[in-house]
Amino acid sequence: MTSPLLYIDHISKSFGAVRALQEVSFAVQRAEIVALVGDNGAGKSTLVKIISGALAPDSGKLWLEGREVHFRRPADAIREGIETVYQHLALIEELDVADNVYPGVRSCAVAGLANGSAG
Ligand SMILES: Nc1ncnc2c1ncn2[C@@H]1O[C@H](COP(=O)(O)OP(=O)(O)OP(=O)(O)O)[C@@H](O)[C@H]1O
Ligand SMILES: [Mg+2]
Repeated sequence: MTSPLLYIDHISKSFGAVRALQEVSFAVQRAEIVALVGDNGAGKSTLVKIISGALAPDSGKLWLEGREVHFRRPADAIREGIETVYQHLALIEELDVADNVYPGVRSCAVAGLANGSAG
């Protein structure tokens, strides 16, 4: 059996006394579209920030195609093909959809971190 593209493995994260994520686990298969849905404050953004390397989990693991990965910064996740599009106010209106999804890839391409083929 092949490993999932992304496996969220018992991820927990607290902010002081606030337990934002408690042992969250799920898998995303290749070519699968997954929606993460929940109430305000449920922990969606916290989980996305962990997947994209903007936050570190307190415990738990991330796996890409069966390989454990440790993202210390967003550039680490971008290098593995994980991009994040933030909410409305973070969009760059002058850019088209593809460039809004992959603005970091172009700057990383300049820095030699990616091939910049997204657009
Ligand atoms: N940097 C932070 N410092 C302290 N508490 C935080 C921080 N980020 C998130 N939290 C808290 O963690 C919990 C989860 O927040 P999060 O933003 O992940 O939820 P969300 O599901 O994205 O909510 P929304 O639908 O409103 O965007 C909330 O109680 C929130 O107040
Ligand atoms: Mg949110």
